Amino acid sequence: MKVPGKIHLANTPTPLQWLSFNGCKFPIKRDDYTGFELSGNKVRKLEYLLARAVKEKSTYVYTCGGDQSNHSRATLIAAKTLGLKVKLFLWGKDTPSAKGNLFIDKFLGCQIRFLNRNEFADVDNIMSEEKLALEKTGEKVYVVPEGGSSTLGIWGYISFFEELNRQVDLKKIKGILTACGSGGTSAGLLIGAALNGLKLKIFAVNVLYDKETIRKRILHLAYSCIEQFKIPCNIDENSLEILDGYSQEGYKSIKPDKISLIKSFASQSGIILDPAYTAKAFYAYNENFLKDKKMSNVLFIHTGGFFGIFNKTKEYLSV
Ligand SMILES: Cc1ncc(COP(=O)(O)O)c(C=O)c1O
Repeated sequence: MKVPGKIHLANTPTPLQWLSFNGCKFPIKRDDYTGFELSGNKVRKLEYLLARAVKEKSTYVYTCGGDQSNHSRATLIAAKTLGLKVKLFLWGKDTPSAKGNLFIDKFLGCQIRFLNRNEFADVDNIMSEEKLALEKTGEKVYVVPEGGSSTLGIWGYISFFEELNRQVDLKKIKGILTACGSGGTSAGLLIGAALNGLKLKIFAVNVLYDKETIRKRILHLAYSCIEQFKIPCNIDENSLEILDGYSQEGYKSIKPDKISLIKSFASQSGIILDPAYTAKAFYAYNENFLKDKKMSNVLFIHTGGFFGIFNKTKEYLSV
């Protein structure tokens, strides 16, 4: 197996806590604590991706996402700490009263190209074209794909199991649930579990792509990574379950029933969940693994996203 190199960016190990919600005890992995400005699940992926960017002597990093992309903000901060220049390609519109992640991107003076929904569908080509043009001026660009979800980035969640194994008896854990956008976190978890001989299920709550599309993406990423790095494991496709139907309001919106649930969770635990990812994942988690139970053996990963709440303060306070 060819394990890729990484640089240290994340504050790890992140805490593994046992909490109670409405009388049900459950384990939660606090990957929202991988850092502060540089926080959430993306930091684990960036440790591998930016190691490659540095190795290739890149001067610039390009990446993309929604205008409230946690991944783009994390990439920007991480690249700044390494002295790299950054350009973001964001789906959305510029606004002088930017909040949340977009506020941070703008405050740091990041170059941003805003794209509409149709243009964003072609963002990989757009980034490639700009890369070609910029490299003619002597710069070297490293392109991080959407969500950091490449065969290299997903090592962040393959190696995650070394840490988790020291915190919890994994034989007693029947599954791991995560919010799922570009699918890299789920793909990494799928490989990591197989590599460690664990029979647990990976529950992915799709917030961006439809069920079939994201399932294919996750499996494709996982198989490509196994082949590329000669990872000695076989994936059981049945161990991946997409928990569908929890983002019907759309990626950029959140329904009041979900806000109401996470408000109740926040008032009991002090933990705040974000509108695009973790609130939807927690809603699915509660419906499937907490409600009417005393104990859950499915682990919830808090993947971060804190700054996204500042773009939805009105909605959060209206329930
Ligand atoms: C807070 C948060 N949780 C979960 C995810 C989903 O991770 P992935 O894109 O690896 O599926 C993201 C992705 O942007 C995120 O920002």
